[in-house]
Amino acid sequence: MHSLQHGPLEVLRGIYSCSSGELSSHRARYERLYRLFSTRFPGYGSHFIVRAPGRVNLIGEHTDYNGYPVLPMAIDRDFVFIIAARSDSSVELQNENPLFGQRTFAAGFPVAPSQQGDWANYVKAAVHGVLEAGLVDPKNAAGFQAFVGGTIPESAGLSSSSALVVASALAFLEANKTKVDRKVLADLLARAERYVGSEGGGMDQAVSLLAEPGKALRIDFFPLRTEAVRLPEEITFVVCNSLIRAPKSETVRYAYNRRVIECRLATALLSNVVVKRTGKINAATRLADLSARRLGMAPGVLKEMALEGIGELPLSLKQIAHRLGETVEKVERENCTLRDGTLLKEPSEGFRVWNRYHHVVTEAERVNLAAKALQDGDVAEIGTLMNHSHASCRDDYEISCPELEALVSIARDHGALGARLTGAGFGGCTVNAVSSESVEQFVRSVTADYYQGYVKEEKGREFIDYHNLRDVIFPCRATTGAGAWPAEQLIG
Ligand code: GLA
Repeated sequence: MHSLQHGPLEVLRGIYSCSSGELSSHRARYERLYRLFSTRFPGYGSHFIVRAPGRVNLIGEHTDYNGYPVLPMAIDRDFVFIIAARSDSSVELQNENPLFGQRTFAAGFPVAPSQQGDWANYVKAAVHGVLEAGLVDPKNAAGFQAFVGGTIPESAGLSSSSALVVASALAFLEANKTKVDRKVLADLLARAERYVGSEGGGMDQAVSLLAEPGKALRIDFFPLRTEAVRLPEEITFVVCNSLIRAPKSETVRYAYNRRVIECRLATALLSNVVVKRTGKINAATRLADLSARRLGMAPGVLKEMALEGIGELPLSLKQIAHRLGETVEKVERENCTLRDGTLLKEPSEGFRVWNRYHHVVTEAERVNLAAKALQDGDVAEIGTLMNHSHASCRDDYEISCPELEALVSIARDHGALGARLTGAGFGGCTVNAVSSESVEQFVRSVTADYYQGYVKEEKGREFIDYHNLRDVIFPCRATTGAGAWPAEQLIG
Protein backbone atom coordinates (compact mmCIF):
# COMPACT_ATOMS: atom_id res chain seq x y z
CA MET A 1 0.00 0.00 0.00
CA HIS A 2 2.72 2.48 1.00
CA SER A 3 5.52 2.38 -1.51
CA LEU A 4 9.04 1.81 -0.19
CA GLN A 5 10.74 4.40 -2.39
CA HIS A 6 8.74 7.25 -0.82
CA GLY A 7 10.53 9.34 1.78
CA PRO A 8 8.89 10.21 5.13
CA LEU A 9 7.46 13.50 3.90
CA GLU A 10 5.76 11.86 0.91
CA VAL A 11 4.29 9.16 3.13
CA LEU A 12 3.02 11.79 5.57
CA ARG A 13 1.62 13.84 2.69
CA GLY A 14 -0.28 10.75 1.58
CA ILE A 15 -1.80 10.45 5.05
CA TYR A 16 -2.61 14.06 5.86
CA SER A 17 -2.78 15.71 2.41
CA CYS A 18 -1.83 19.06 3.94
CA SER A 19 0.49 22.04 3.43
CA SER A 20 4.27 21.78 3.89
CA GLY A 21 4.12 23.72 7.16
CA GLU A 22 1.63 21.28 8.66
CA LEU A 23 3.65 18.37 7.29
CA SER A 24 6.74 19.47 9.20
CA SER A 25 4.83 19.56 12.45
CA HIS A 26 3.38 16.07 11.81
CA ARG A 27 6.89 14.87 11.07
CA ALA A 28 8.27 16.45 14.24
CA ARG A 29 5.57 14.68 16.25
CA TYR A 30 6.39 11.24 14.80
CA GLU A 31 10.07 11.83 15.46
CA ARG A 32 9.41 12.94 19.03
CA LEU A 33 7.33 9.83 19.73
CA TYR A 34 10.02 7.67 18.19
CA ARG A 35 12.72 9.21 20.40
CA LEU A 36 10.51 8.76 23.47
CA PHE A 37 9.98 5.10 22.58
CA SER A 38 13.73 4.58 22.30
CA THR A 39 14.38 6.26 25.65
CA ARG A 40 11.59 4.50 27.52
CA PHE A 41 12.11 1.07 25.99
CA PRO A 42 15.84 0.78 25.27
CA GLY A 43 17.05 -2.38 23.57
CA TYR A 44 14.03 -2.98 21.35
CA GLY A 45 14.89 -3.15 17.66
CA SER A 46 12.75 -3.39 14.56
CA HIS A 47 10.12 -0.76 15.19
CA PHE A 48 7.01 -0.07 13.28
CA ILE A 49 4.44 2.68 13.48
CA VAL A 50 0.67 2.52 13.40
CA ARG A 51 -1.72 5.42 13.05
CA ALA A 52 -5.51 5.51 13.42
CA PRO A 53 -7.57 8.69 12.95
CA GLY A 54 -10.56 10.00 14.87
CA ARG A 55 -13.57 11.13 12.89
CA VAL A 56 -16.16 13.80 12.68
CA ASN A 57 -19.60 12.68 11.61
CA LEU A 58 -21.07 15.18 9.17
CA ILE A 59 -24.56 13.72 9.28
CA GLY A 60 -26.29 10.43 10.15
CA GLU A 61 -26.40 10.28 13.92
CA HIS A 62 -27.48 7.09 15.68
CA THR A 63 -28.42 5.55 12.37
CA ASP A 64 -25.58 3.01 12.16
CA TYR A 65 -26.83 0.46 14.67
CA ASN A 66 -30.23 0.67 13.01
CA GLY A 67 -28.74 -0.46 9.70
CA TYR A 68 -29.04 2.99 8.10
CA PRO A 69 -26.10 4.94 6.58
CA VAL A 70 -23.77 7.56 8.05
CA LEU A 71 -21.52 10.20 6.47
CA PRO A 72 -18.37 10.86 8.53
CA MET A 73 -14.82 11.84 7.58
CA ALA A 74 -11.52 10.83 9.19
CA ILE A 75 -9.69 13.82 10.67
CA ASP A 76 -6.12 14.96 11.17
CA ARG A 77 -6.33 14.11 14.88
CA ASP A 78 -5.18 10.60 15.58
CA PHE A 79 -3.40 7.97 17.62
CA VAL A 80 0.15 7.15 16.65
CA PHE A 81 1.82 4.13 18.25
CA ILE A 82 5.53 3.41 18.02
CA ILE A 83 5.72 -0.36 18.37
CA ALA A 84 8.12 -3.25 18.71
CA ALA A 85 6.97 -6.87 18.74
CA ARG A 86 7.91 -8.95 21.79
CA SER A 87 8.99 -12.54 21.96
CA ASP A 88 6.48 -13.25 24.75
CA SER A 89 2.77 -12.40 24.95
CA SER A 90 3.09 -9.26 27.12
CA VAL A 91 1.59 -6.00 25.94
CA GLU A 92 3.30 -3.02 27.56
CA LEU A 93 1.92 0.45 26.99
CA GLN A 94 3.20 3.89 27.80
CA ASN A 95 1.36 7.05 26.88
CA GLU A 96 2.79 10.42 26.03
CA ASN A 97 0.00 11.94 28.10
CA PRO A 98 0.99 11.50 31.76
CA LEU A 99 -2.71 11.24 32.75
CA PHE A 100 -2.70 7.79 31.15
CA GLY A 101 -0.31 5.70 33.20
CA GLN A 102 1.77 2.72 32.12
CA ARG A 103 -0.17 -0.53 31.61
CA THR A 104 0.88 -4.15 31.08
CA PHE A 105 -1.23 -7.20 30.35
CA ALA A 106 -0.88 -10.59 28.68
CA ALA A 107 -2.35 -11.26 25.24
CA GLY A 108 -3.97 -14.55 26.28
CA PHE A 109 -7.62 -15.43 25.75
CA PRO A 110 -9.82 -14.18 27.37
CA VAL A 111 -8.26 -10.85 28.27
CA ALA A 112 -9.58 -9.76 31.67
CA PRO A 113 -10.83 -6.15 31.61
CA SER A 114 -9.31 -3.46 33.82
CA GLN A 115 -11.45 -1.20 35.96
CA GLN A 116 -14.26 0.56 34.07
CA GLY A 117 -13.02 3.73 32.37
CA ASP A 118 -9.36 2.61 32.28
CA TRP A 119 -7.66 3.46 29.00
CA ALA A 120 -6.12 -0.03 28.73
CA ASN A 121 -9.60 -1.45 28.16
CA TYR A 122 -9.64 -0.11 24.59
CA VAL A 123 -6.36 -1.86 23.84
CA LYS A 124 -7.63 -4.99 25.55
CA ALA A 125 -10.87 -4.82 23.55
CA ALA A 126 -8.83 -5.00 20.34
CA VAL A 127 -6.52 -7.80 21.47
CA HIS A 128 -9.43 -9.80 22.89
CA GLY A 129 -11.45 -9.30 19.70
CA VAL A 130 -8.61 -10.36 17.40
CA LEU A 131 -7.94 -13.47 19.51
CA GLU A 132 -11.63 -14.32 19.76
CA ALA A 133 -11.96 -14.17 15.97
CA GLY A 134 -9.09 -16.66 15.69
CA LEU A 135 -6.94 -14.27 13.62
CA VAL A 136 -4.03 -14.84 15.98
CA ASP A 137 -3.49 -18.09 17.89
CA PRO A 138 -3.70 -17.29 21.63
CA LYS A 139 -1.15 -20.03 22.38
CA ASN A 140 1.56 -18.39 20.26
CA ALA A 141 0.52 -14.75 20.33
CA ALA A 142 3.30 -12.17 20.33
CA GLY A 143 2.73 -9.12 22.52
CA PHE A 144 4.22 -5.69 21.87
CA GLN A 145 5.79 -2.62 23.44
CA ALA A 146 3.95 0.55 22.50
CA PHE A 147 4.60 4.20 23.04
CA VAL A 148 1.29 5.94 22.42
CA GLY A 149 0.66 9.53 21.34
CA GLY A 150 -2.87 10.83 20.83
CA THR A 151 -4.23 14.17 19.58
CA ILE A 152 -7.98 13.41 19.49
CA PRO A 153 -9.84 15.30 22.19
CA GLU A 154 -11.17 12.69 24.57
CA SER A 155 -14.86 12.18 25.49
CA ALA A 156 -15.77 14.72 22.83
CA GLY A 157 -17.67 12.70 20.23
CA LEU A 158 -14.67 12.47 17.88
CA SER A 159 -14.14 8.75 18.38
CA SER A 160 -10.90 8.76 20.29
CA SER A 161 -11.86 5.41 21.82
CA SER A 162 -12.47 3.67 18.49
CA ALA A 163 -9.25 5.12 17.06
CA LEU A 164 -7.44 3.63 20.05
CA VAL A 165 -9.10 0.27 19.42
CA VAL A 166 -8.19 0.38 15.71
CA ALA A 167 -4.56 1.38 16.36
CA SER A 168 -4.26 -1.37 19.00
CA ALA A 169 -5.64 -4.01 16.66
CA LEU A 170 -3.23 -2.98 13.89
CA ALA A 171 -0.35 -3.06 16.39
CA PHE A 172 -1.28 -6.55 17.58
CA LEU A 173 -1.76 -7.83 14.03
CA GLU A 174 1.58 -6.35 12.91
CA ALA A 175 3.34 -7.88 15.93
CA ASN A 176 1.95 -11.21 14.75
CA LYS A 177 2.63 -10.55 11.05
CA THR A 178 -1.02 -11.04 10.24
CA LYS A 179 -2.91 -9.23 7.49
CA VAL A 180 -6.68 -8.89 7.57
CA ASP A 181 -9.09 -7.40 5.06
CA ARG A 182 -10.03 -3.90 6.25
CA LYS A 183 -13.78 -4.38 6.02
CA VAL A 184 -13.55 -7.64 7.91
CA LEU A 185 -11.46 -5.88 10.54
CA ALA A 186 -13.88 -2.94 10.79
CA ASP A 187 -16.79 -5.32 11.42
CA LEU A 188 -14.81 -7.31 13.91
CA LEU A 189 -13.67 -4.23 15.84
CA ALA A 190 -17.17 -2.77 16.00
CA ARG A 191 -18.18 -5.92 17.87
CA ALA A 192 -14.91 -6.01 19.82
CA GLU A 193 -15.41 -2.51 21.21
CA ARG A 194 -18.55 -3.67 22.98
CA TYR A 195 -16.03 -5.14 25.44
CA VAL A 196 -16.17 -1.71 27.12
CA GLY A 197 -19.93 -2.05 27.55
CA SER A 198 -21.61 0.25 25.07
CA GLU A 199 -23.80 -1.08 22.27
CA GLY A 200 -22.20 1.15 19.60
CA GLY A 201 -22.75 0.73 15.88
CA GLY A 202 -19.99 0.33 13.28
CA MET A 203 -19.37 3.85 12.02
CA ASP A 204 -16.29 4.81 14.03
CA GLN A 205 -14.16 1.75 13.35
CA ALA A 206 -15.15 1.69 9.67
CA VAL A 207 -14.24 5.30 8.95
CA SER A 208 -11.01 5.06 10.94
CA LEU A 209 -9.97 2.09 8.79
CA LEU A 210 -11.46 2.89 5.39
CA ALA A 211 -11.40 6.68 4.95
CA GLU A 212 -9.79 8.37 1.95
CA PRO A 213 -8.01 11.76 2.00
CA GLY A 214 -10.05 14.78 0.94
CA LYS A 215 -13.26 12.78 1.09
CA ALA A 216 -16.15 11.99 3.38
CA LEU A 217 -17.15 8.35 3.60
CA ARG A 218 -20.71 7.23 3.14
CA ILE A 219 -20.98 3.98 5.06
CA ASP A 220 -23.80 1.47 4.74
CA PHE A 221 -24.10 -1.48 7.09
CA PHE A 222 -25.14 -5.14 7.16
CA PRO A 223 -23.15 -5.79 5.05
CA LEU A 224 -20.56 -3.03 5.41
CA ARG A 225 -20.17 -0.97 2.22
CA THR A 226 -18.41 2.35 1.72
CA GLU A 227 -18.40 5.06 -0.87
CA ALA A 228 -15.94 7.97 -0.70
CA VAL A 229 -17.51 11.34 -1.51
CA ARG A 230 -15.26 14.26 -2.46
CA LEU A 231 -15.68 17.31 -0.25
CA PRO A 232 -16.38 20.62 -2.01
CA GLU A 233 -13.47 23.04 -1.60
CA GLU A 234 -15.77 25.98 -0.85
CA ILE A 235 -16.61 24.64 2.59
CA THR A 236 -14.52 23.61 5.54
CA PHE A 237 -15.80 21.60 8.46
CA VAL A 238 -14.90 23.23 11.75
CA VAL A 239 -15.19 21.33 15.03
CA CYS A 240 -16.09 23.19 18.23
CA ASN A 241 -15.93 21.45 21.58
CA SER A 242 -18.75 22.37 23.98
CA LEU A 243 -16.30 21.56 26.81
CA ILE A 244 -18.92 19.25 28.31
CA ARG A 245 -17.51 15.74 28.64
CA ALA A 246 -19.44 12.95 27.00
CA PRO A 247 -17.53 9.85 28.13
CA LYS A 248 -18.63 6.62 26.50
CA SER A 249 -17.82 4.67 29.62
CA GLU A 250 -19.86 6.53 32.22
CA THR A 251 -23.42 7.94 32.52
CA VAL A 252 -23.60 8.52 28.80
CA ARG A 253 -23.43 4.75 28.43
CA TYR A 254 -26.90 4.31 29.95
CA ALA A 255 -28.36 7.13 27.85
CA TYR A 256 -26.77 5.70 24.68
CA ASN A 257 -27.79 2.11 25.41
CA ARG A 258 -31.32 3.27 26.23
CA ARG A 259 -31.67 4.67 22.73
CA VAL A 260 -30.37 1.45 21.20
CA ILE A 261 -33.04 -0.44 23.16
CA GLU A 262 -35.75 2.06 22.20
CA CYS A 263 -34.90 1.41 18.56
CA ARG A 264 -35.13 -2.35 19.14
CA LEU A 265 -38.55 -1.84 20.71
CA ALA A 266 -39.58 0.28 17.72
CA THR A 267 -38.48 -2.57 15.44
CA ALA A 268 -40.54 -5.11 17.39
CA LEU A 269 -43.66 -2.92 17.47
CA LEU A 270 -43.50 -1.92 13.82
CA SER A 271 -42.68 -5.41 12.65
CA ASN A 272 -45.67 -6.72 14.59
CA VAL A 273 -48.09 -4.43 12.80
CA VAL A 274 -46.46 -4.93 9.37
CA VAL A 275 -46.85 -8.69 9.72
CA LYS A 276 -50.46 -8.35 10.87
CA ARG A 277 -51.44 -5.95 8.11
CA THR A 278 -49.59 -7.54 5.20
CA GLY A 279 -49.50 -11.16 6.22
CA LYS A 280 -45.82 -11.15 5.19
CA ILE A 281 -43.34 -12.70 7.59
CA ASN A 282 -40.69 -10.09 8.16
CA ALA A 283 -37.70 -11.22 10.19
CA ALA A 284 -36.75 -7.67 11.13
CA THR A 285 -33.83 -7.32 13.49
CA ARG A 286 -33.29 -3.59 13.05
CA LEU A 287 -35.19 -0.58 11.76
CA ALA A 288 -33.61 -0.59 8.30
CA ASP A 289 -35.22 -4.00 7.71
CA LEU A 290 -38.51 -2.14 7.89
CA SER A 291 -37.80 0.70 5.48
CA ALA A 292 -40.47 1.56 2.91
CA ARG A 293 -38.06 0.48 0.18
CA ARG A 294 -37.34 -2.92 1.70
CA LEU A 295 -41.01 -3.52 2.34
CA GLY A 296 -41.95 -2.27 -1.11
CA MET A 297 -44.46 0.14 0.44
CA ALA A 298 -45.33 3.79 -0.07
CA PRO A 299 -43.73 5.90 2.73
CA GLY A 300 -47.17 7.26 3.73
CA VAL A 301 -48.55 3.76 4.24
CA LEU A 302 -45.55 2.79 6.34
CA LYS A 303 -45.91 5.92 8.48
CA GLU A 304 -49.54 5.06 9.12
CA MET A 305 -48.51 1.58 10.24
CA ALA A 306 -45.82 3.01 12.48
CA LEU A 307 -48.35 5.29 14.12
CA GLU A 308 -50.65 2.35 14.67
CA GLY A 309 -47.92 0.04 15.96
CA ILE A 310 -45.95 2.48 18.06
CA GLY A 311 -48.21 5.48 18.72
CA GLU A 312 -46.78 8.87 19.58
CA LEU A 313 -46.73 8.64 23.37
CA PRO A 314 -44.01 7.20 25.61
CA LEU A 315 -44.64 3.54 26.41
CA SER A 316 -44.06 1.45 29.53
CA LEU A 317 -42.82 -2.11 29.15
CA LYS A 318 -46.28 -3.27 30.17
CA GLN A 319 -47.91 -1.29 27.36
CA ILE A 320 -45.36 -2.57 24.87
CA ALA A 321 -45.94 -6.17 25.98
CA HIS A 322 -49.68 -5.65 25.63
CA ARG A 323 -49.31 -4.31 22.10
CA LEU A 324 -47.12 -7.25 21.16
CA GLY A 325 -49.34 -9.82 22.90
CA GLU A 326 -46.34 -11.03 24.92
CA THR A 327 -45.37 -11.17 28.58
CA VAL A 328 -43.35 -8.30 30.03
CA GLU A 329 -40.57 -10.78 30.89
CA LYS A 330 -40.30 -12.00 27.32
CA VAL A 331 -40.26 -8.49 25.86
CA GLU A 332 -37.64 -7.45 28.36
CA ARG A 333 -35.48 -10.51 27.78
CA GLU A 334 -35.65 -10.22 23.99
CA ASN A 335 -35.26 -6.47 23.65
CA CYS A 336 -33.71 -4.96 26.75
CA THR A 337 -30.75 -7.30 27.30
CA LEU A 338 -27.37 -5.64 26.92
CA ARG A 339 -24.21 -7.37 25.67
CA ASP A 340 -23.04 -8.11 29.19
CA GLY A 341 -26.30 -9.96 29.86
CA THR A 342 -27.76 -7.30 32.17
CA LEU A 343 -31.16 -5.73 31.53
CA LEU A 344 -31.48 -2.03 30.77
CA LYS A 345 -33.55 -0.42 33.52
CA GLU A 346 -36.94 0.84 32.34
CA PRO A 347 -36.98 4.66 32.39
CA SER A 348 -39.61 6.02 34.80
CA GLU A 349 -41.08 8.26 32.07
CA GLY A 350 -41.39 5.24 29.75
CA PHE A 351 -39.60 4.43 26.48
CA ARG A 352 -39.89 7.23 23.91
CA VAL A 353 -40.16 4.81 21.04
CA TRP A 354 -41.96 7.01 18.53
CA ASN A 355 -39.50 9.91 18.83
CA ARG A 356 -36.52 7.63 18.37
CA TYR A 357 -38.14 5.97 15.36
CA HIS A 358 -38.99 9.31 13.81
CA HIS A 359 -35.45 10.62 14.23
CA VAL A 360 -33.86 7.51 12.73
CA VAL A 361 -35.99 7.35 9.59
CA THR A 362 -35.80 11.07 8.85
CA GLU A 363 -32.05 11.14 9.56
CA ALA A 364 -31.48 8.23 7.17
CA GLU A 365 -33.16 10.22 4.43
CA ARG A 366 -31.03 13.27 5.26
CA VAL A 367 -27.88 11.17 4.83
CA ASN A 368 -28.96 10.19 1.31
CA LEU A 369 -29.68 13.80 0.45
CA ALA A 370 -26.44 15.08 2.02
CA ALA A 371 -24.27 12.58 0.13
CA LYS A 372 -25.91 13.77 -3.05
CA ALA A 373 -25.53 17.44 -2.10
CA LEU A 374 -21.80 16.88 -1.44
CA GLN A 375 -21.42 15.25 -4.84
CA ASP A 376 -23.27 18.12 -6.49
CA GLY A 377 -21.32 20.73 -4.51
CA ASP A 378 -24.61 22.12 -3.20
CA VAL A 379 -23.21 23.65 -0.03
CA ALA A 380 -26.39 25.50 0.96
CA GLU A 381 -28.30 22.21 0.92
CA ILE A 382 -25.62 20.51 3.05
CA GLY A 383 -25.98 23.27 5.64
CA THR A 384 -29.77 23.01 5.70
CA LEU A 385 -29.64 19.24 6.14
CA MET A 386 -27.15 19.60 8.99
CA ASN A 387 -29.43 22.08 10.73
CA HIS A 388 -32.42 19.77 10.35
CA SER A 389 -30.35 16.90 11.67
CA HIS A 390 -29.48 18.91 14.74
CA ALA A 391 -33.13 19.74 15.43
CA SER A 392 -34.06 16.09 15.15
CA CYS A 393 -31.19 15.04 17.45
CA ARG A 394 -32.37 17.59 19.98
CA ASP A 395 -36.13 17.13 19.83
CA ASP A 396 -36.66 13.49 18.92
CA TYR A 397 -33.46 11.75 19.99
CA GLU A 398 -32.90 14.11 22.95
CA ILE A 399 -29.12 13.95 22.83
CA SER A 400 -28.36 17.67 22.96
CA CYS A 401 -27.70 19.81 26.04
CA PRO A 402 -27.86 23.56 26.81
CA GLU A 403 -24.17 24.09 26.03
CA LEU A 404 -24.44 22.41 22.61
CA GLU A 405 -27.50 24.54 21.92
CA ALA A 406 -25.60 27.72 22.79
CA LEU A 407 -22.67 26.68 20.62
CA VAL A 408 -24.85 25.81 17.62
CA SER A 409 -26.73 29.07 17.83
CA ILE A 410 -23.52 31.14 18.17
CA ALA A 411 -22.06 29.31 15.15
CA ARG A 412 -25.12 30.08 13.04
CA ASP A 413 -25.02 33.72 14.15
CA HIS A 414 -21.47 33.83 12.83
CA GLY A 415 -22.27 32.50 9.41
CA ALA A 416 -22.10 28.68 9.69
CA LEU A 417 -24.07 27.31 6.76
CA GLY A 418 -24.92 24.35 8.95
CA ALA A 419 -24.18 23.58 12.60
CA ARG A 420 -25.01 20.43 14.52
CA LEU A 421 -23.90 18.26 17.36
CA THR A 422 -21.74 15.36 16.23
CA GLY A 423 -21.20 11.85 17.59
CA ALA A 424 -23.20 10.23 20.35
CA GLY A 425 -24.22 13.62 21.82
CA PHE A 426 -24.89 14.57 25.48
CA GLY A 427 -21.97 17.01 25.26
CA GLY A 428 -18.84 16.75 23.14
CA CYS A 429 -18.49 18.66 19.89
CA THR A 430 -20.43 20.39 17.16
CA VAL A 431 -19.51 20.23 13.48
CA ASN A 432 -19.98 23.36 11.42
CA ALA A 433 -19.99 23.82 7.66
CA VAL A 434 -18.19 27.11 7.13
CA SER A 435 -17.32 28.90 3.92
CA SER A 436 -13.60 28.16 3.43
CA GLU A 437 -12.84 31.84 2.96
CA SER A 438 -14.21 32.80 6.36
CA VAL A 439 -12.81 30.06 8.58
CA GLU A 440 -10.45 32.35 10.49
CA GLN A 441 -13.14 34.92 11.10
CA PHE A 442 -15.56 32.20 12.19
CA VAL A 443 -13.03 30.77 14.66
CA ARG A 444 -12.35 34.25 16.10
CA SER A 445 -16.03 35.09 16.52
CA VAL A 446 -17.05 31.76 18.07
CA THR A 447 -14.04 31.99 20.38
CA ALA A 448 -15.13 35.42 21.54
CA ASP A 449 -18.77 34.50 22.04
CA TYR A 450 -18.54 30.95 23.34
CA TYR A 451 -15.13 30.30 24.90
CA GLN A 452 -14.50 33.81 26.14
CA GLY A 453 -18.17 34.68 26.60
CA TYR A 454 -20.64 31.91 27.45
CA VAL A 455 -18.12 29.61 29.15
CA LYS A 456 -16.88 32.41 31.41
CA GLU A 457 -20.38 33.65 32.23
CA GLU A 458 -21.99 30.26 32.94
CA LYS A 459 -19.89 29.60 36.00
CA GLY A 460 -22.00 26.83 37.58
CA ARG A 461 -21.41 24.38 34.72
CA GLU A 462 -18.83 21.63 34.51
CA PHE A 463 -16.72 22.78 31.59
CA ILE A 464 -13.46 20.92 31.07
CA ASP A 465 -10.21 22.89 31.23
CA TYR A 466 -8.09 23.24 28.13
CA HIS A 467 -4.58 24.45 27.51
CA ASN A 468 -4.72 25.28 23.87
CA LEU A 469 -7.64 26.82 22.04
CA ARG A 470 -6.51 24.93 18.93
CA ASP A 471 -7.60 21.72 20.61
CA VAL A 472 -11.15 22.94 21.22
CA ILE A 473 -11.99 24.79 18.00
CA PHE A 474 -10.31 23.70 14.80
CA PRO A 475 -10.90 23.19 11.08
CA CYS A 476 -10.59 19.54 10.03
CA ARG A 477 -8.81 18.01 7.11
CA ALA A 478 -10.20 14.78 5.73
CA THR A 479 -7.31 12.34 6.08
CA THR A 480 -6.71 8.78 5.02
CA GLY A 481 -7.68 5.75 7.10
CA ALA A 482 -5.48 3.88 9.55
CA GLY A 483 -2.18 2.32 8.50
CA ALA A 484 0.99 0.58 9.65
CA TRP A 485 4.51 1.27 8.38
CA PRO A 486 8.05 0.10 9.15
CA ALA A 487 9.47 2.95 11.27
CA GLU A 488 12.17 3.86 8.72
CA GLN A 489 9.50 4.85 6.20
CA LEU A 490 8.27 7.62 8.48
CA ILE A 491 11.33 8.57 10.46
CA GLY A 492 14.04 10.07 8.30
C1 GLA B 1 -21.09 6.63 18.90
C2 GLA B 1 -21.08 5.19 18.39
C3 GLA B 1 -21.37 5.17 16.89
C4 GLA B 1 -22.64 5.93 16.56
C5 GLA B 1 -22.61 7.33 17.19
C6 GLA B 1 -23.90 8.08 17.01
O1 GLA B 1 -20.02 7.33 18.36
O2 GLA B 1 -19.84 4.59 18.65
O3 GLA B 1 -21.44 3.83 16.46
O4 GLA B 1 -23.77 5.22 16.95
O5 GLA B 1 -22.31 7.25 18.58
O6 GLA B 1 -24.12 8.37 15.67
